[in-house]
Order: sequence, then structure tokens, then C-alpha cells
Amino acid sequence: MNVNHRSLVLLCSLGLSAAAMAATPAELIARYTAEARAADPAFTGFSATRGEALHRTPHGGGKADTPACTSCHGEDARAAGRTRAGKSIEPMAASVSPTRYTDAAKVEKWFKRNCTEVLGRECSAREKGDWLAYMAKQ
Ligand code: HEC
Repeated sequence: MNVNHRSLVLLCSLGLSAAAMAATPAELIARYTAEARAADPAFTGFSATRGEALHRTPHGGGKADTPACTSCHGEDARAAGRTRAGKSIEPMAASVSPTRYTDAAKVEKWFKRNCTEVLGRECSAREKGDWLAYMAKQ
């Protein structure tokens, strides 16, 4: 194998691992579908309506100043949100922020952090899928 061939192989494997980490909202939905089914054999699919309720409802199990997802992400998913510290957050709607929900590790990290903040616990696979189904429609 000459050097050029070796670097080509290296480039290809780097490209493949980058592709393996990247995701589309549809791939994330597929992943959460498998997890939701494993957790509950009676699971029949995600609901954007339930996702909207999860997003807007003040829950009360988490931090007092962030009772709902809308506490930071705002009432309108197509508009920018704001952190408690006043930092702007890009809109959550996939239609206005196309880079959203394309990095599975990022999505998982923020679900974990934000669900704990709002609900006082992690979101289930069904809740994550419902919420993504809602955001995909915004
Ligand atoms: C305390 C403020 C705050 C609250 C409350 C909050 N978020 Fe977030 N969220 C953020 C910040 C900050 C980011 C990361 C910055 C960014 O992506 O623009 C983020 C990012 C995310 C992402 C990553 C999206 C992507 O780009 O792929 C998801 C998913 C998410 N939030 C879901 C939720 C859900 C679900 C709730 C309600 C259970 C919620 N958030 C409540 C502040 C918040």
C-alpha cells in the first residue's frame, strides 16, 4: 500500500465515522421508536399533540424558574428563545433551524439536561419522540 492509498483509506474511514454520528430527525425518530417499543410493547407511534403538551405544560417536578420547555425555548417554536441568563437560543422548529436534530449526541445531551431541569427526571423515549414529532411539524 503506498502513502497515497493509505491516506485515502484514512480519509474514507474518517468520513464514515462522521456520517455515523450525524443523524436526520427521521433517524432519531426511528431510534426512539425502537426504544419506546422495547419499553412498552403496546406502543403504537408518536403524537405531535402529546409532544406539544409536553413542550408547553408547566410540569413542576424540576426547577421552579423553568417549569416548561417554553420557559427557555419560548411560546413560538419558530422564534428565538432565551436562557435564564438572557442568552438567545436559536428557534427549535426544524423548518427555521435546519441544523437542529442532526447530531444524535447533541440531541441526547440536551434532552437529558433539559428534561431534568423541567421535569426533575429524564424524558422517556416516547416523550422524546413525541416532542420531536411536534418540532418536526413547526
Ligand atoms: C433552562 C433553559 C432551557 C429549558 C427549560 C429547556 N431547554 Fe432545551 N435547550 C436549551 C439550550 C441552552 C439549548 C442548547 C442551545 C441550542 O441548541 O441552541 C437547548 C437545546 C435543546 C435540544 C437540542 C436541539 C438540537 O439542536 O438538536 C433539545 C432536543 C432540547 N433543547 C429539548 C428541550 C425540551 C424537550 C425541553 C423541555 C422538557 C427543553 N429543551 C427545555 C435550554 C433550555
